[in-house]
Amino acid sequence: MKLTFLGAPGAGKGTQAAVVAQKLGIPTISTGNMLREAVEAQTEVGLKAKAFMESGGLVPDDVIIGILDERLRKDDCRKGFILDGVPRTVAQAEALETRGIKLDCVVSLEVDDEDIKRRMSGRRVCLKCGATYHVTDNPSKDGVTCDVCGDKLVQRADDAPETVASRLAVYHEKTEPLKNFYAGLGTLKTVKADVSIDEVTKAVFAALGI
Ligand code: AP5
Repeated sequence: MKLTFLGAPGAGKGTQAAVVAQKLGIPTISTGNMLREAVEAQTEVGLKAKAFMESGGLVPDDVIIGILDERLRKDDCRKGFILDGVPRTVAQAEALETRGIKLDCVVSLEVDDEDIKRRMSGRRVCLKCGATYHVTDNPSKDGVTCDVCGDKLVQRADDAPETVASRLAVYHEKTEPLKNFYAGLGTLKTVKADVSIDEVTKAVFAALGI
C-alpha cells in the first residue's frame, strides 16, 4: 500500500503514520524528520532548508523532490510506504504522478486551527528517533525521555506560537488545495481528527479498510 497523510501542522500525521506503519509493516517517510536530521547534521540539504523551516515556510519543491526520490529508491519501500507531510504542494503531487508513483489512498486529518494551537504548545519530540508525544494527551512514561530510544525529549523550535500561526497560514494556502487534487483522482479519505488518538486511529483504519 502506498499512502499519505494530509493535514495541518499538528493534525496528527506523524502520530497516525507510526501506528499504521506498525500495523502494515511498511516504512513511514517523513520529510519533516528527514529535513530536521539534515539541519542537525549541517548537510547541503539542511543548510538550504534551515531558514525556511525556522520561519514556518515551505522548503522549495526541488529540494523535497530530490530527497524523496532518493528515499523511495531504497529497498524497504518495495512493499509500500506511508508518506507523512509530503506532498505538500500541487507541484510535489504532480512530481509523484510524473514518476508513476500512484498513491492508493490519501488520508486528510481534519482539525480546526484553535485545537492545533493547543496541541502544538504541548508537543514534545525525540530528535534522535522522531517519536512524538504530548505533555497531557500522549506523555512518554517518565515525561522527559523517549520511550523508544531513551533520548531527552525537546520542544521543536517551530512550535513557538508565532511560527505555528505562519505554518497554519501556509497550510491553508499551499497544502489544502491538494484535497481537491486527490478528490479528483478518487483517492481522498477525510477523517475527523479532533478526537482522542485512539479514536482517530480507528477511523483511519476504517478509511484504509485494514
Ligand atoms: P513537518 O515535520 O512535516 O511538520 P508539520 O506538517 O507541520 O506537521 P507536524 O509534524 O508539526 O504535525 P503532525 O501532523 O505530524 O502531528 P503530530 O503527530 O506530531 O514539517 C516541518 C517543516 O519542514 C515544515 O514547516 C516545512 O518547513 C518543512 N517541510 C516538511 N515537509 C515538507 C514538504 N513536503 N515540502 C516543503 N517543506 C516541507 O501531533 C502533534 C501533537 O499533537 C503531538 O504532541 C501529538 O502527541 C498530539 N496529538 C496527535 N493526535 C492527537 C489527538 N487525536 N488528540 C490529542 N493530541 C494529539
